[in-house]
Amino acid sequence: MGRPAAERREELIELYREVQNCRRCPLYATRTQAVFGSGNADADLMFVGEAPGFHEDQQGKPFVGAAGKLLDTLLEEIGLAREDVFIANVLKSRPPGNRDPQPEEIEACKPYLTRQIELIEPRVICTLGNFSTKLLTRRQDGITRVHGQPQDHVVAGLPVRIYPIYHPAAGLRSTAMLETLREDFKRLPELLEAARPREEPEDEEEGSPEPVAASQLGLFG
Ligand code: URA
Repeated sequence: MGRPAAERREELIELYREVQNCRRCPLYATRTQAVFGSGNADADLMFVGEAPGFHEDQQGKPFVGAAGKLLDTLLEEIGLAREDVFIANVLKSRPPGNRDPQPEEIEACKPYLTRQIELIEPRVICTLGNFSTKLLTRRQDGITRVHGQPQDHVVAGLPVRIYPIYHPAAGLRSTAMLETLREDFKRLPELLEAARPREEPEDEEEGSPEPVAASQLGLFG
């Protein structure tokens, strides 16, 4: 931890280019474009979904369809916007017909997510649904069982709090699910607050923090 944000951002840009040209699994042949993820390259909070769907594949951005609109609303309800967080997926390419990601595809794509986490250095990773939860917790417990329960893990060599919640698409399917999702979402500010490092004394000479805008990845999808 602790590498300068500008340096990590540069490497994230290189990784973005690499992902655009990725052919590690057969999904490259059917995708319109890879969806790297987008948001703040130095975010404390990262969301990890499943895979791009039709609209994401068309636009090259994560969560731009109906589930994405719900995600935006839920973020707004806790006082956050997309620019404050980083949003990525387990798979960077769309599985045809939005079928479930296959184990070989997850395995092939995993190094990209690991590297994103290594470079962004989030303190809290909110996993959306089963696929990202199982991948990052390295456990087989399903989302129904573990949602709303923060777990401490080391991912990409970094200590992170993983917070599994239902996938927003599930919230679109049932009112009960939406209520649970909303309740779980409401705990995010408190988790983020608890995960923040203690304030370091300000150094008048060189202590001015990098402006937020400079570390945002608007160009990424
Ligand atoms: N569902 C996901 O898991 N990811 C997206 O980017 C869009 C929908």
